[in-house]
Amino acid sequence: MNLIDIRNLSIELQTATKPILAVDRVNLTMKEGEVRGLVGESGSGKSLLAQAIVGVLDDKWKVDADRFHWRGQDLMRLSPEERKVIISKDVAMIFQEPMACLDPTTTIGEQLEEAVDTEQLTGFFWQKRQQRKQAAITLLHKVGIKKHEVCVKSFPHQLTDALCQRVMIAMALARRPILLIADEPTAAMESTNQGQIFRLLASLNQLKNMSILLISHDLENVTHWTNSITVMYSGQFVEAGTTEQIFSQPYHPYTRALVDSSPKANMQIPSKSRLMTLPGSIPVLQHLPIGCRLGPRCPRAQQKCVRAPKIKNFHSQQVSCHFPLKDNYS
Ligand SMILES: Nc1ncnc2c1ncn2[C@@H]1O[C@H](COP(=O)(O)OP(=O)(O)O)[C@@H](O)[C@H]1O
Ligand code: SF4
Ligand SMILES: [Mg+2]
Repeated sequence: MNLIDIRNLSIELQTATKPILAVDRVNLTMKEGEVRGLVGESGSGKSLLAQAIVGVLDDKWKVDADRFHWRGQDLMRLSPEERKVIISKDVAMIFQEPMACLDPTTTIGEQLEEAVDTEQLTGFFWQKRQQRKQAAITLLHKVGIKKHEVCVKSFPHQLTDALCQRVMIAMALARRPILLIADEPTAAMESTNQGQIFRLLASLNQLKNMSILLISHDLENVTHWTNSITVMYSGQFVEAGTTEQIFSQPYHPYTRALVDSSPKANMQIPSKSRLMTLPGSIPVLQHLPIGCRLGPRCPRAQQKCVRAPKIKNFHSQQVSCHFPLKDNYS
């Protein structure tokens, strides 16, 4: 059974003139225990999609989907409020700027104690207080912070970004989520710290079977840590498959450009060579091309592309393109 199964999810921005389709019929499926990368350059709608899943978009956004199943339950039959109750019990999210998400006026210890699930606590209130303290320390140990004494007494600004992100992960774990959505969790970090956070997420997946949706603008960043990848461009679904498939045989021209511009996929080419990239840049919401939004940048675009392509199964990958590449890349 799929953990999450979303079909044709759209997100419209309500404006004074006419609504803008920021996310246009995107599919996303995940199995229990899977680590899926959600990849696409900045502005492709990854964060909007994640926020729509956890139900935190405000009223100016209208979310619709043909299917939104969570562990077999059809959430589209429920009101947005009922949907949010179910999702918030099982899904936790961490963000790009951990420092901004923590309360600057409260110590890490107090914030973690606050996050501890009350269902875990038993006895009188003074016993619960002690249990909260212990649970906060256990959470810090789980995210690899051994010297908890210093950490619990610190305020967020006294910790590095990487430590703050570990604290955010600890706070997410306090809710014992089935799915953790990590939205660019290492974007502001240097590569050593990035590796540590990714290794921590991988160990949580392996030890606790926690599913992870790892969002990144950089395909290469997520390759080592994911089983499968979904690619988005300008709010549209591009391609999904196993990480191996996406790297070895991308069928969509955009995925191919991402793979070709990845230094790891191009180990043989001489250093300092120019890597293959698409001309132009991602469109802004106010000027979205009609049909396939990659059209103005796509080397394979033809007249038919003014109509948005449907998502089709293509050799066990899902691809949204009128003219996908063939097996030999032609
Ligand atoms: N609060 C907002 N108001 C208006 N436009 C927004 C808002 N948030 C995001 N957008 C726009 O929606 C598109 C998708 O944004 P986002 O989901 O943040 O992309 P990503 O996470 O892939 O970088 C972008 O064009 C962005 O400018
Ligand atoms: S549908 Fe057309 S424009 Fe879009 S990616 Fe495919 S070939 Fe390119
Ligand atoms: Mg984002």
